[in-house]
Amino acid sequence: MRPPFSLGFSATIVLPLLGVVLLSTLGCSELIPQRSEGEKLYRARCASCHGLDARGNTPRYLSDHTVDLTDDDFTHGGGSEAMGLVIQYGVTGRMPANEDLSPDQIKAIVKHLQGLIEDAQQFD
Ligand code: HEC
Repeated sequence: MRPPFSLGFSATIVLPLLGVVLLSTLGCSELIPQRSEGEKLYRARCASCHGLDARGNTPRYLSDHTVDLTDDDFTHGGGSEAMGLVIQYGVTGRMPANEDLSPDQIKAIVKHLQGLIEDAQQFD
């Protein structure tokens, strides 16, 4: 006996598959916000020393307050120009340079860093 209706190949296989593909491409970018260029670079090049939140609570620098970028206590100046220069040229013997980055990439990192500093100071 035949079932009362048949969905056919496309309806049973192709449509659900299409749904999964659409969900995974459209849905995820809604659920997991994309990281900005600045955040990606910060995570890749800075977070291991300064921490994801820029407070410097990383194993290597636990009691070294110079690595805390959120404390308003800057050796090299807290303005965006000064931070950009530190990021570009590094600090001899202490922090690596990033001379392969473009001015726009450095600006993007500074912008992300300033957001982290604002976040940290809101809760202090
Ligand atoms: C290998 C560890 C390391 C990495 C990676 C690193 N830093 Fe640093 N950074 C330091 C140390 C240590 C200091 C303190 C230098 C000093 O003694 O003045 C510092 C200082 C700074 C300062 C100056 C703080 C001040 O007091 O004026 C800024 C801004 C900064 N880092 C931002 C960054 C950013 C942004 C990145 C990623 C592009 C980065 N750092 C990557 C270790 C690191």
